[in-house]
Amino acid sequence: MKAHIAVLPGDGIGPEVMAEGVRCLRALAERHGHTFTLTELPFGGAAIDLTGNPLPERTLHTCLAADAVLLGAIGGPKWSAPEAKVRPEQGLLALRRALGVYANLRPVKVHPALLGASSLKPEVLEGIDLIFVRELTGGIYFGEKRREASSATDVCTYTVEEIERIVRSAARLAQQRRRKLVSIDKANVLETSRLWREVTTRLMRAEFPDVTLEHMLVDSAAMHLIRRPRDFDVLVTENMFGDILTDEASMLAGSLGLLPSASLGEGRRGLYEPIHGSAPDIAGRGIANPYGTILSAALLLRHSLGLTAEADRLEKAVFEAISARALTPDLAGAGEAVTTQVAGDAVLNRL
Ligand code: IPM
Ligand code: MG
Repeated sequence: MKAHIAVLPGDGIGPEVMAEGVRCLRALAERHGHTFTLTELPFGGAAIDLTGNPLPERTLHTCLAADAVLLGAIGGPKWSAPEAKVRPEQGLLALRRALGVYANLRPVKVHPALLGASSLKPEVLEGIDLIFVRELTGGIYFGEKRREASSATDVCTYTVEEIERIVRSAARLAQQRRRKLVSIDKANVLETSRLWREVTTRLMRAEFPDVTLEHMLVDSAAMHLIRRPRDFDVLVTENMFGDILTDEASMLAGSLGLLPSASLGEGRRGLYEPIHGSAPDIAGRGIANPYGTILSAALLLRHSLGLTAEADRLEKAVFEAISARALTPDLAGAGEAVTTQVAGDAVLNRL
């Protein structure tokens, strides 16, 4: 098949992990007879330096015309002074909005070889297989922001339609899995959460009677996530709760560097990014974990290009590379660590 993929390396470790993601995509295309056109574009802080805009027009248009977008990471101290007028993060939010990718899927599984890499006890971690469905284009991230001399305001709004479409995405996913959906909110305090709970209850009864629905308050969910993570199957939540809880959940897998994500809207086009940030503290040292990006590339193959066999193959290659202990310092513990590139090689050799 022919596909056009927009590649946004971004800032910090972004370009380093992206190099490995791109190598894997090229290798798969060659081996399976596909033609992937990869267009690399400036984005985030790198784009601010070049053009003054974190999401330049050409980057946006190319992403909108592409079959899929693969993104590394954005941000860094250089662009994050409190008084800064333009920020890399604004580019990311604008891109998610423009692509209409409201459903952010963040799967969490634990590799048996990494049971010791987490700060939690192995017996709590064994057999975890859960997926977060985070609402990505609404809520407090996108509400009106105001700053006055002695106060600041961020508005959180959700519409019925926004809630319905994200809950439907999560429920459809649950139907293909263990038919258990947990909806996370703060309905004891927030009006948006009370609407969320009402809409979710009604929709699930009417459209998904075969899926068990449980409501959970976000503080309690944060606790249960590390107390009994195996009990969770699909979790659906609003934008900011999803941001926070998925960083927490990444520690179940052993490292923030491992988790991929897929952001999807109505069509097939999607945005794929590891959930980690640009990690300025280790940028340029060639030690960042590339697996989150490589696994995001696998999600891209599956969801946007429909290349299931290729996606399975790439995920299997990462699984085997981890089994063979090709681990960057975030995962290696007391064992010997490899570089970003050697970790990428370990995957390529197994493709
Ligand atoms: C994420 C990140 C972003 C978010 C930041 C970089 C804006 O933390 O994708 O989880 O908060 O959505
Ligand atoms: Mg985050």
